[in-house]
Amino acid sequence: MAAPSDSNTSNSFLHPFFQESCYPEELRESIISLPREECWVAPYIYNYKGFWLGSIHLYGALRSQQQFQAQHSDIILCSFPKCGTTWLKALIFAVITRKQFLVSQETLNPLLTTNPQDLIRNMELAYARENSPDFSVNNGLFRVLSTHLPLALLPKSVGESKCKLIYVCRSQKDTLVSFWHFVNKLRGEARGLGAIPFPHTFDKYCRGESMYGPFWDHMLGYWKESLENPGKVLFLKYEEIKEEPDVQLRRIAAFLGCPFSEEEEEGGVVGGISRLCSFERLSNLEVNKTGKSYYSPNNVYFRKGEVGDWRNHLTDEMAIKLDQIVEEKFKGTGLKLC
Ligand code: A3P
Repeated sequence: MAAPSDSNTSNSFLHPFFQESCYPEELRESIISLPREECWVAPYIYNYKGFWLGSIHLYGALRSQQQFQAQHSDIILCSFPKCGTTWLKALIFAVITRKQFLVSQETLNPLLTTNPQDLIRNMELAYARENSPDFSVNNGLFRVLSTHLPLALLPKSVGESKCKLIYVCRSQKDTLVSFWHFVNKLRGEARGLGAIPFPHTFDKYCRGESMYGPFWDHMLGYWKESLENPGKVLFLKYEEIKEEPDVQLRRIAAFLGCPFSEEEEEGGVVGGISRLCSFERLSNLEVNKTGKSYYSPNNVYFRKGEVGDWRNHLTDEMAIKLDQIVEEKFKGTGLKLC
């Protein structure tokens, strides 16, 4: 399966959200025969093996499954959308490149001039566009990539290799609110469409019919794997990183096999990384305020960066319903969301 090249497809392939007419020939039939639901930014999301994926994500997932060869030293950041992926990309990048971009020479750090989404690429979107995407970071010193795919849909080689997975999850209520704002921004900026009413988004989210959903199966897949295989999957929570970024940074560095040395601790490296990757710092950089990446303006990845913004959007009834879903789905698993 070859990626459509820019020359033999219309510009609509380059549009961030695939139109059905642009699906690659070899997949058109199999994609459009899947159960589908309307989507807010692309025409449809499709149910593939129990998860809802947009066509571009599904196409990229299938190509990743066929072609991605994990290496033992790979680092893969996995997340359900809007759980803090951009932040984690920045933190992981800063941790693994800290020897090159010493905190004392912070002005040289690529994080100051490049959006984290462009420093660490998303696997399925990369495979949807390219035949052999390059996931090397920092001139090939590391291979780091991200994915929103659930554990069950990851390429087989990920499980077979010793590569490490870092998963970040977040309160289902804040994730929903963040997602709603994100979708409306994309609809407005990319397609000139109006906002989706919040109750509509809420209903679909509760049914699991949102991009990469259901959120509960997504989170539980990685949670269970992290319990069974803690050396393979590090399970993080957005709220815990917010509360104690330094503690979580130490966990990340240790998990990746590059714990902070005593000298680094004394030199304030951990705090330096937290500050560099903080919402205030990153969201105020020119590149993140006015820059654009392939798929969207960079500022769509930065909104409030707070815990508990759901209180400004959800009625009591909605909050109770979402809490009940989590309680029921997570019962007996040990996973608790904030
Ligand atoms: P809000 O919409 O609640 O503000 P993702 O990167 O997975 O798309 O998640 C986006 C969410 O993470 C947004 O949440 C965004 O503001 C928040 N975010 C982005 N960068 C952050 C940072 N450095 N620190 C904390 N939150 C951040």
